[in-house]
Amino acid sequence: MKKHMLTVSDIRKDDTVRQLIKHADSYLESIKFTKHGEVHASNVSWHAKDILLKLGFDNREAELAAISGYIHDVGNFINRQNHEITGATLAMKLLDKLGMDLKETLDIAQAIGNHDEKSGIPVSNITAAVIIADKCDVHRSRVRSKGTIHDDIHDRVNYAVKKASLKIFKKKKIIQLALEIDTAIAAVIDYFEIFLSRMVICKKAADFLGCKFELVINGNKLV
Ligand SMILES: [Fe+2]
Ligand SMILES: [Fe+2]
Repeated sequence: MKKHMLTVSDIRKDDTVRQLIKHADSYLESIKFTKHGEVHASNVSWHAKDILLKLGFDNREAELAAISGYIHDVGNFINRQNHEITGATLAMKLLDKLGMDLKETLDIAQAIGNHDEKSGIPVSNITAAVIIADKCDVHRSRVRSKGTIHDDIHDRVNYAVKKASLKIFKKKKIIQLALEIDTAIAAVIDYFEIFLSRMVICKKAADFLGCKFELVINGNKLV
């Protein structure tokens, strides 16, 4: 039987997906983590697709990256610990119920299961795109309350980011994250303390896609 070619628009409309994202974000709010709701899901989805399209990869692969990006953090509603694994398992059940082809379901589950920098490995184009899109979603709008920025280095570093642009240079084979940081709020070294492991996995993911990852902060190329 021919299975349904699900798109990210189908996924966004699904009530279970909406509830999963809402519950995951509420859980993270209760443990004082940055915002992981619909905006983060949409940003990661959009950038994951954009990375693959701009680098000339297959349209369907880019659509699967968009779906993976949209639901990559749903496992957080169970527990932050191992949320990538629980999220991958949930995605299998969810996408199967929605009638997705098994191979596509497995590709998406794999991307979700490998998106976290603690244990993730960029094993496919979809996985690599989701990793980069997720780790590069840093911005002050993700901080829930300005009141936490003095005590919480994660919030402070996110809050210091006034502008973040993820740029893809196909000919030069460069994926670049350009940040504008308010150094009166957080020093560049604070950024590195928190984001080094994320930048390392971005570099590996860019390598997988045949590109170099660059980080530019306040106009200075750092890696
Ligand atoms: Fe995550
Ligand atoms: Fe995320």
